[in-house]
Amino acid sequence: MNESSFISVHSSHIRPYALSLSPSARAALKHQQPCCLWLTGLSGAGKSTLANALELQLNEQGRHTFVLDGDNVRNGLCNDLGMGAAARKENIRRISEVARLMVDAGLIVIVSAISPFQADRASARALFRTDEFLEVYVSTPFDICARRDPKGLYQAALQGRIKDFTGLDSPYEAPQQADCEINTDEVELADAVQHVLTVLLKK
Ligand code: ADX
Repeated sequence: MNESSFISVHSSHIRPYALSLSPSARAALKHQQPCCLWLTGLSGAGKSTLANALELQLNEQGRHTFVLDGDNVRNGLCNDLGMGAAARKENIRRISEVARLMVDAGLIVIVSAISPFQADRASARALFRTDEFLEVYVSTPFDICARRDPKGLYQAALQGRIKDFTGLDSPYEAPQQADCEINTDEVELADAVQHVLTVLLKK
């Protein structure tokens, strides 16, 4: 990313405007406690499938939700970003800031992004209160993801046609203290959804 292409406004020249309506007033209208469910894991691990199923289940329960999926966000908000470490950091920063705004708007936000770096996930977590953020490690192993290869990306990466591929020539730092862990090779989708929602409810 070319930093010089941004006009920088010194943060001391920015004064946040204190809105009269509080996040809790917005949430109260929706009769729910807004939060961010953050799904991290390798490409092909099943994050999007799980995020999608979680949203359907929550919607059925009358909850107001939104899914921020890495592949979708990279089509618009983050379509200027590549797959190098700095670009991934910026991708996660933008996603987490948008998630924060959506939680303030009263929504239950489900993020589905590889988010490979521990430090970037910690920065995302730091935007939220402890009870507002749930980290879900979708821990489906590399070999299984590579065998599934739903988009043909593993084959392309193994043939050297894609570089900086997570788990090959770009690292994935597994969470050490995720709130819950789902290996989609071992757990049925419906059970995974129930498990995540049970952990969320406890929190
Ligand atoms: S992240 O690392 O910045 O969090 P993100 O989840 O937004 O990644 O996007 C990952 C998606 O981009 C994958 O699901 C895959 O479809 C696609 N993709 C394209 N190139 C790569 C790559 N080099 N490494 C991983 N995923 C890639």
